[in-house]
Order: sequence, then C-alpha cells, then structure tokens
Amino acid sequence: MYDTVQEIFSEEKFFRYGFNAWDLSHLDVVSRLDILISKILEGGLSEPFHFACKYPGSYDFRPSVIEYDPLFLDVIREVGVIELLKENFGKGLALCHVQLRVAESRGSGYAGWHRDSYYTSDGAVGNIPPALKLIYYPKLSFAVEDQLKIAAGSHRLDFGSRFVDRFLIGTGALSEIKTITNDRNNWVLFDTSALHATCPVRNNKWSPRLIYTFLNSKLDREYPFAKKIAEYMEEHSHE
Ligand SMILES: [Fe+2]
Repeated sequence: MYDTVQEIFSEEKFFRYGFNAWDLSHLDVVSRLDILISKILEGGLSEPFHFACKYPGSYDFRPSVIEYDPLFLDVIREVGVIELLKENFGKGLALCHVQLRVAESRGSGYAGWHRDSYYTSDGAVGNIPPALKLIYYPKLSFAVEDQLKIAAGSHRLDFGSRFVDRFLIGTGALSEIKTITNDRNNWVLFDTSALHATCPVRNNKWSPRLIYTFLNSKLDREYPFAKKIAEYMEEHSHE
C-alpha cells in the first residue's frame, strides 16, 4: 500500500491520457475528510456558510471550505499532491481554488462535453496554460455511480473547433472515454484542456465532489481565496 500519490503517479499515463486516477481510501487523512464532508452534507451549517447554485443542477459551498476547516488544505499536502505537482509540473503551479460541490439528481449532468481551455479562430479561451484539476468523488453512504467522463488523450487532439469536438464525441472517434465513479480510483488529477463531461446523478439525491484547481500562480488573481491558500500552504510546507 502506498502513503503518497507520488508513489503511484504515472507521468507517461498523464501525458498519454491527460489524467491519473487514484484510490486513496486506505489513508487515514482521507477517512477524516470523509467524516468532515458527511457532516457538512447533513446540513445545519451556520452563517456565513451555505450552498449556492452556480451551474443549474449543482450547488457550491460558500464562501469557501478553506474557511470552514483546514483539513481541506491539509489533505492534499498529506497525500503528497503539492510535492507531486512541484516535481512533475513546475514550481509556478499553485492551488488557487477549492470547491465542495453537490450535484442534484436529474436527467443530465450539470456540465456537458467541454474543455476548460481551448482555441478558436479568435484565439485562446480559458486559462493558458490550462489549469490542472484534482477532483475527489467521495463514496460516503451513497450508491456507486458514474461521475465524470474524460476523453483520454483529447488534450493532445485539438482541432481548434468546438464543432469538431462535438463531432468527435458524437461519432465515437475518441474511443477511449474513461469514466470515474465515486468508488475506487475516485481521486482524479486531469488536464482541463482534455474533453470532459459530468455524468447525470440518478441513484443518489445528491452527489458530492471536491474540486481543487491548480493554476500558474500568475493567473490566479481572480480567485478570491488564492492568496489565503498560498499563505496557508507556505506556512505549513515543512510539516
Ligand atoms: Fe470543466
């Protein structure tokens, strides 16, 4: 059994597929995180904490989980994500946003097939270089169901057209569609320039996910908690 993600990270798979998915359920810090998320989902949050709708079909924890409990930041240090990113993706990459989101049960996912960063004939849209996202889909007491689809390798296959993206998905030309569930391998680190889509929640009333966004630190100014996160990480970097 491994203690950190560095022990199981595959650079080659990341380059080839655009993501790595891990099972970290045996780690004590992840058990503590599960308890914390369960408690939040039970309700009874006191001001100023609440959930608010950003994308139809999903609700975001506000103002930020990092104000609610330091465990949300400690966990990614403890499992070795910060070190892994430093070693494999360069020192300029910083955690700028942490979002606990619940998706509600309905016929479609709250986000269809898309790239967070892409090119059009008018130029780049989204963050350049693209953000990396680490998403955790906790199992908790929920039924196992599909959560996220990623078109493996699509970060290397971009024709600069959203029409072509939709066409590629529709025709099955991108044959390696990988699905992340909230069971095993439910921590996924991915390149957000890859085509991805959220799956509809059907068997659960709610489905939680914890989303960490890593961005070149020069680009993180629009994220209101980026500075606080950077200070906390710096303060605790040697623990
Ligand atoms: Fe996205």
